[in-house]
Amino acid sequence: MKDGKWITMGIESSCDETSVAILQGGRTVLSNVISSQIKVHQVFGGVVPEIAARHHLENINGVLQQALEEAEVSLEEIDAIGVTYGPGLVGALLIGLATAKAIAFSLRKPLVGVHHIQGHISANFIEHTELEPPFLALVVSGGHTHIVDVRGYNEYEVLGRTRDDAAGEAFDKVARVLGLGYPGGPKIDKIAKEGDAKAIEFKRVYLEKGSLDFSFSGLKTSVLNYLNAEKQRGTEIHAADVAASFQQAVVDVIVDKAILAAKTCGKKKIVLAGGVAANSRLRKDLSEGCKREGITLYAPSPILCTDNAAMIACAAYYKYQEGLVNDLTLDACPNLPL
Ligand code: KG4
Ligand code: ZN
Repeated sequence: MKDGKWITMGIESSCDETSVAILQGGRTVLSNVISSQIKVHQVFGGVVPEIAARHHLENINGVLQQALEEAEVSLEEIDAIGVTYGPGLVGALLIGLATAKAIAFSLRKPLVGVHHIQGHISANFIEHTELEPPFLALVVSGGHTHIVDVRGYNEYEVLGRTRDDAAGEAFDKVARVLGLGYPGGPKIDKIAKEGDAKAIEFKRVYLEKGSLDFSFSGLKTSVLNYLNAEKQRGTEIHAADVAASFQQAVVDVIVDKAILAAKTCGKKKIVLAGGVAANSRLRKDLSEGCKREGITLYAPSPILCTDNAAMIACAAYYKYQEGLVNDLTLDACPNLPL
């Protein structure tokens, strides 16, 4: 095994971001190029899988070229290629995977398939150079809400997950009914700052006592019912209050469950990850909650919270170190379990 000077490439294309990154060792980012398709999908109010796959195909070579140029690295200098192979949109995943396999095959480089969630968690290693497992990870994104016991770089146990909508999905759906557009999370975050989080008492769903699972679909329905009832009464809707009250209901449950999980398994470190980790209220409340409980909180800066290839390269580095490589039969797994 070489020292930490390996050059690792990461490729991410599971949803609507085409991204390629080059890392030196596991934690030094030489480049992290992200081409977002948000504008393309905005008119549809959400990601259209076929269109996403087509845009990944159009973008991937340019993004790859730019990542190599910014890092001042040639393809021959890459030691390992990490790529997201699931979960995600199958057509979108296949573009990144085909690119990674083509490089691995033509240049005889090791191919490392990365689970998207492992990538999100690994984003924290990049900015918190002292961070090492074990810790508890809270992954909140558009597709996932997971509480994970991270015992080693490649050893995970899922302690809780959503039984219906993911947290980000709830943000996106509520934003849509409020007419705020896609993606909804950042828009709700922004207008909630002008609203009163106590204006509407939306029910917090905790499920059975001690459960670390989540359920957000009831909350989404409560928001819809509230809006319909107000409309029927002819009352003017105060979108900022609705956004702030909804956001607080999501955040309260996430914070309480994360702290309960940390206490239950005796962890003193919580690592926040995924697109919803960019939410300002969640970051503030979780940080305060952790402080009260003597827990250290780690969170990536917002650009590393949402989908990017640096996190995939980082996860690939730690898999490669343990000899976890794949052959060219690696396939896209839209529902890959952690
Ligand atoms: O991790 P990510 O980029 O993609 C998935 O793996 O799903 O997460 C995207 C999700 C979207 O649902 C988006 O609305 C949400 O993260 N998001 C936010 C914020 N920024 C992004 N949710 C709440 N507040 C934010 N500031
Ligand atoms: Zn993601």
